[in-house]
Amino acid sequence: MSEKVRSTWNTRAGFLLAAIGSAIGLGNIWRFPYIAYKNGGGAFLIPYAVAVLVVGIPLLILEQGIGNLYRASQPMAFAKIRKKFEVFGWWPVVMVMFGIMLFYTVVLGWCINYLVFSIDLSWGADTEAFFHNSFLGITSGPFDFGGLHYGVLLGTFLVWVLVWFISTRGVRRGLELANKIAIPLLVVLMVIMMVWNLFLDGSGAGIATFLRPDASRLTDPAVWTDAFSQVFFSLSVALGIMYAYASYLGPRAAIVNNSWITAAANSSFSIFAGMVVFATLGTMAHATGVPITEVVKGGPGLAFVIYPKAISLLPFGSRIFAVLFFLSLLLAGITSAISILESFVCSAIDKFKASRMKVVTLTCVVGFFGSMIFTTGAGLYWLDIVDYFIMNFGLLTVGLIEAVIIAWIFGVEKLGKSVNAGSSWKVGRVWRYLLKYATPMVLVVLLVIAVVDNFKKPYGGYSWTALTIIGVGWIVMTILLSIFISKRRRVEGEEDHMAQLGDEGVTIND
Ligand code: ALA
Repeated sequence: MSEKVRSTWNTRAGFLLAAIGSAIGLGNIWRFPYIAYKNGGGAFLIPYAVAVLVVGIPLLILEQGIGNLYRASQPMAFAKIRKKFEVFGWWPVVMVMFGIMLFYTVVLGWCINYLVFSIDLSWGADTEAFFHNSFLGITSGPFDFGGLHYGVLLGTFLVWVLVWFISTRGVRRGLELANKIAIPLLVVLMVIMMVWNLFLDGSGAGIATFLRPDASRLTDPAVWTDAFSQVFFSLSVALGIMYAYASYLGPRAAIVNNSWITAAANSSFSIFAGMVVFATLGTMAHATGVPITEVVKGGPGLAFVIYPKAISLLPFGSRIFAVLFFLSLLLAGITSAISILESFVCSAIDKFKASRMKVVTLTCVVGFFGSMIFTTGAGLYWLDIVDYFIMNFGLLTVGLIEAVIIAWIFGVEKLGKSVNAGSSWKVGRVWRYLLKYATPMVLVVLLVIAVVDNFKKPYGGYSWTALTIIGVGWIVMTILLSIFISKRRRVEGEEDHMAQLGDEGVTIND
């Protein structure tokens, strides 16, 4: 019997806050409102709810269940199931760390800049020209880099320093503490913004515009693909995170309860954030007389172009409101960024037994340099393409692979028994059916649709060359890197999840 030392959460509430903190992120405040609006407003809630119930929650239970059962990161848990599956565990972890995380930190870097701009509303009247030209210096296309943008670069650097700092402090004194501070604060800030909005004319109409269903959009398959990839990203499934987080729980944790609570908190927060954002847009429509439907376009511009404009037009307290908004975005994003980093860090420590300080430092240095491409004048194009490919092909494929490996090979009955053991809410036949049949089937259909759609009309009007080199190339690189890492020999010995600063751990026997 070997003696292993593995960090644990201090309390169950600490774990729940961290899981919710991972789920609630830019995906809820920045991405959800524009994706929902673009795809039929209130009607989008139907595919969204289907995606949460049919795939999101079943996979969340799977990921937390396997992470907790083996008390290991995704690659190591998969390796314990069968050695040859290790590579399938590395792929999401690598793709997320060296894909999503690289631009996620850049968007958070934008937030830091906008937090500073909030002080004197530096974006002025033409928020679009400010964001695209003065701030990002967008060039003519993805291969016209146009140099680095130092404001964006500095913001991104600060974000990497912050996540490095939190992560090196370990599970309890880093991840848990950061979430315990950030998540309640985030909720308070959002509630203040909502109440504030409700006193202003036009906010109700704004919320109504967000929720008003356009049922005709439901026949468009792209709406469904968007709903599923949004749910994956937002619930932090298929990112390797939930394996890592659940691996720091004690044996036989209340996995089913925890998963439902995480999903419910995340979805409610998304809808609430959508209402807050559209309430403010409603006040803008009221002030300018231009309907929201004419100013809101989908895309990353919503939070950085349209929203600042709406804030500037508020009848009072614009600066304070702007600070509240960008601070909320930053808090939500940082708690997710540390979880993405942890997905990789936990896996690397599990495999190579290096110290947390070394792994986190090396990963953050490499990550920062990788982020730089997104801080150039071509950064927004790269972000758009990489985001699209990872969300629509990468994450859906990862979900499919894990459903097949766990439900079919590991055994969905076995997992069901294991997750029920510590939970007062149980999973039964429906969950097993969803995981074994519905999830894989739905994901295959969505992937086929995404591929066919792309052949018909290349994404975003980009050239085939750009989509192949940047989008396909990025995915292929993450696959090669995963194969390379999985082929390295696992270092035997004690696990070292202990932070250098003396994080606590428990001793377990197996
Ligand atoms: N779940 C995180 C988000 O929504 C990654 O931003």
